[in-house]
Amino acid sequence: MTASTKYEQLLKHIRELGHLESSVALLDWDAETYMPSAGIEIRSEQIATLSRMSHEKMTEPALGELLAELEGNTDDDDAATNVREMKRTYDRAVKVPGRLVEELARTSTRAKETWAQARKERKFELFEKDLSRLIDLRREYADAIGYEEKRYDALLDEYEPGMRASQVTAVFDSLRGPLSEFVQQIADASQKPDPSVLHRHYPEATQKLWCRQMAEVIGFDFKCGRIDISTHPFCSGTGPQDVRLTTRYEEDFFNAATFGTLHEAGHGLYEQGLPTEHLFTPRGEATSLGIHESQSRMWENMIGRSMPFWKRYYAQCQIAFPDALGDVPLEKFYGAINTVEPSFIRVEADEVTYNLHIILRFEIESDLIDGTLAVKDLPAAWNQKMHDLLGITPAHDADGCLQDVHWSFGGFGYFPTYALGNLYAAQFFEQVRKDIPNLDQQTESGKFDDLLGWLRTNIHQYGSRYRAAELAERVTGKPLSAEPFLNYIRAKFSPIYGLG
Ligand code: CO
Repeated sequence: MTASTKYEQLLKHIRELGHLESSVALLDWDAETYMPSAGIEIRSEQIATLSRMSHEKMTEPALGELLAELEGNTDDDDAATNVREMKRTYDRAVKVPGRLVEELARTSTRAKETWAQARKERKFELFEKDLSRLIDLRREYADAIGYEEKRYDALLDEYEPGMRASQVTAVFDSLRGPLSEFVQQIADASQKPDPSVLHRHYPEATQKLWCRQMAEVIGFDFKCGRIDISTHPFCSGTGPQDVRLTTRYEEDFFNAATFGTLHEAGHGLYEQGLPTEHLFTPRGEATSLGIHESQSRMWENMIGRSMPFWKRYYAQCQIAFPDALGDVPLEKFYGAINTVEPSFIRVEADEVTYNLHIILRFEIESDLIDGTLAVKDLPAAWNQKMHDLLGITPAHDADGCLQDVHWSFGGFGYFPTYALGNLYAAQFFEQVRKDIPNLDQQTESGKFDDLLGWLRTNIHQYGSRYRAAELAERVTGKPLSAEPFLNYIRAKFSPIYGLG
C-alpha cells in the first residue's frame, strides 16, 4: 500500500471519529437547551455509549500502525498536520490505562455532585475528599502520559497543546505585578463610572432580537449557525456549517446577554472560518483553547466594549431599550460597561481584574498537582491570594474556592487558557491596528469585513496547522507576551478613571 492510500485510510478513520464526537457534542447541546429534564438518564447512556465507541476507535492498534507508518512520510503540510496532531491524541489515549479512565469518570461524576452540595452549603469539607482523590488520579494520569519538565505540563497539554507550565509562569509573572498595581490605581481613582443603569429593566423579548442583531453585525452567519438559551453559555456544533451558540438573558442586567452573545459569537466566527474541506480532521479544527478564547475576547471586549462600536450602535440600543437607556448619554453608558471593580466571582469579573482570577487559580492548581499545597489548606491559600492580588477576602468558600466547576470534573490545566486567550487577543489586536490603520473608523461605521477577513486569513484558515505559540509568533512577529495586554488596558481604562 502506498503512503497516499494509507493517508486516505487515516482520513476515513479520523472522520468517523469526528462523526462520533460531534454527535456527542450535539447530544450535549440538546441536553443543555431543549431536552426535557426527565430525559437526562437516557441521554447519559447515549453519551456514554458513543463516548466508549469513540475511545475504542481512538485506541485501535490499527490506527497506531497507520500513524507510525505515516509519520515523517506525508505528501504535504495538511497531511503532516493531521498525522502530527492525531499521533499526539492517540499517544495520550493509549498511554492511559482503561482502569484509570473509568476511575476518573466515576470519581468526577460523584465529585460534581459533592461539589454542588458543598457550594450550596458553603462547606469545603464536603468536597475535600473527592477533590483529593481527583488530584491523585490526575497525577497518575499525568505520569502515564509523561512530561519533560513538570507533571502539570501533561495536563495543560490537553487544552493548550505544546504549552508548558514554565512558559505560563513566565508570562503570568510579568503580568501579575503591573496588573495588580493598575487595579489598585483604579480602586484609588476619584473619577469612577456608575454601572447602575445596567441593572434597569431590559425585557427579554427585546434582548433576544438585539443580541441576534449584534451577532449578525459582526459577521456571524445564521445560515450556518443558531443561538439558543442555556444556563451556562457556550459554543459548539458540527463544523463551520453548523455552529451552535447559547446565551442567557437577565432582565435586570444588560451585560449578561449582550456581551455573552458577542463572546460566544466570537467563538462562533472562529468555527465558521475553519476550512470546511478539512472538516473532522485536526487541520480543520481550532488549534487550542487559548486561541479560541482570543477570538471571543477580541469581539466581546476590544470591539464590543469599545467607544467606536457604541458610537455606531448606541442610538439603536436606546431605541430598543427606551425605558432603561433613554436618559443615559453615550459617555455614561460607555463608562458603565467598562466599570472595573475587584470582585469575588471570576465569571463576573471585568476585563482588567479577570486575569488576576486566573493567575490565582493557575498558581493554586500547580501547587496542588505538585503536592506543595495540601487540599485541606486550599481555602486558606485561596483567600490569601485573593487578598494579595485583588485586595478582597471572600466571606465563604462559595465566593472563593468552590465557585468554579472545573476542578470537580478533574479539569486541571484548563484555567490558564482563559488568560492566555486575553493575552493572545491583545497581541493579535495590536497587529490588527497596524494592518488596518482605520479600524476605529470602520468600527464606527459598522464595517467589520476587514477585521473578520484579517482573522480568517491570519488565524481561522489554519486550523491546527500551527500550535498556538507558533501561530502568535508568525502573525505578530514576536513570542507571546503580557506587554500588548498591559498597554491595551492602560490606554483604554486610564481615561475612564481619569488616570494620568
Ligand atoms: Co469563551
